[in-house]
Amino acid sequence: MSQSLPSVIISGTGTYLPHRVVSNDDMAQIVETSDEWIRSRTGIAERRYASEKESTSYMATHAAKQAMKAAGTRTDEIDLLIVATMTPDMPFPSTACLVQSQLGLDHITAFDIQAACSGYIYALNTAANLLRSGAYNKALIIGAEKMSSILDFEDRTTCVLFGDGASAAVLECSEAMGLGILSSITGSDGSNPQLLYQPAGGSACPATTESVLARQHFIKMNGREIFKQAVRVMGQVSVDILERHGYSTDQVDLLIPHQANMRIIDSLAKRMRLPMERFHNNLEYYGNTSAASIGIALHEAHRSDRIRSGDLILLVAFGAGLTWGSTLIKWH
Ligand code: ACO
Repeated sequence: MSQSLPSVIISGTGTYLPHRVVSNDDMAQIVETSDEWIRSRTGIAERRYASEKESTSYMATHAAKQAMKAAGTRTDEIDLLIVATMTPDMPFPSTACLVQSQLGLDHITAFDIQAACSGYIYALNTAANLLRSGAYNKALIIGAEKMSSILDFEDRTTCVLFGDGASAAVLECSEAMGLGILSSITGSDGSNPQLLYQPAGGSACPATTESVLARQHFIKMNGREIFKQAVRVMGQVSVDILERHGYSTDQVDLLIPHQANMRIIDSLAKRMRLPMERFHNNLEYYGNTSAASIGIALHEAHRSDRIRSGDLILLVAFGAGLTWGSTLIKWH
C-alpha cells in the first residue's frame, strides 16, 4: 500500500439491535433443540428478532444515525453510502437507496454489496479505496440483516444460528499518517454455491407456489463443510494481512472475527496462537447477524474503551459465496 495515499479512519460507529430477545429455550419451543445443544455447539445463548416494522432499511437507518452522531458528521457531508446485506428489503431498489431516502442524503452515490457474512469487510474496503481515490469525501457503510426473514423454522440445523441487527461506520480521510485502515484483503470462491444458499427467489428460480411449498426461499447450509472452510480461510487471510504490513500475530491488540460459531473462533485462536482475551466476541447475545456482526462487535469494543489510539485491530470474516476478507486497522 503506497505511503502517498491518504489515511482513512473510522470516525464513528453505531448499531441497531431489535428489542425482542429470543432465548435458546424459546427456540426449543419452535424446533426440537435445547439450550444445552445450542450453547455447547455454537456458543449462542440468545439472539434478536426484528418486528414487522423493523425492516433491514429501518435497522440500517438507525445504526447510521448513531454512527453519524458519534462521528460528529452532518448528513450533508456524506456523499457515499454502501449497505452490505443478504436480506434486502426487496430485490430492488437497493436497500442503500431506501436508507439514503430515510436519512435525507440527497443525490449521493448509494448502492448495496452482497457478500453475505463478509459484507462488512467488503463495504469497508470498497469505501476506503473510493475515499483514497479522492472520488468521495465521507462515506457511510452499513451491515444490516433481517436474517429471521429467511430462516426455516422447521430446520433446527440453521434456524438456531442467526439473528437480526445492523451496524454502521462513518469513514473519512485523515491527516493522521500511518493510522486508520491500513488495508484489506478480500476473496471469493463461487465454485460450490450450494454450501450455503437460498435456492429460490432470484431469476434462476422465481417464486412459485411450488417453490414456496418446497421451502426453497429459506437458508440451506452444509454446516460441517462451512465450519472447516471458515477455520482454514479465516486463519489464512488473517496471517496474510499481518504479513503484508510486517506485523506478527502477537502484535494484534484486538481481533474481531465474524460471529458465527464460538468453536470456529476457538479454532482460529488456537491456529493463530492468540489468547481469547485479545478477541472481542458477542455471539452469545446476538447469534450470527451476518454482514452486521463485525460492525456490532467493533462498536461495542470501541464504546467499552477496549480500543485505544495506536492499537492494532484485525477484522476477519467468512461467509456464503464463498467469500472472505480481513482488514487491518491502526486505530487513530
Ligand atoms: N438442536 C439439536 N440437535 C441438532 C441441532 C439443534 N439445533 N442441529 C443439528 N442437530 C443434530 C443433527 O441433526 C445431528 O444429529 P444426528 O447425528 O442424529 O444426525 C447432530 O446434531 C450433529 O449434527 P452436526 O451437523 O454434525 O453438528 P455440528 O457439531 O457440525 O454443528 C453446526 C452444526 C453448529 C451448524 C456447525 O456445523 C456450524 O456451526 N457450522 C458453521 C455454520 C455457520 O456458522 N454458518 C454461518 C454462515 S458462514 C459463517 O458465518 C462462517
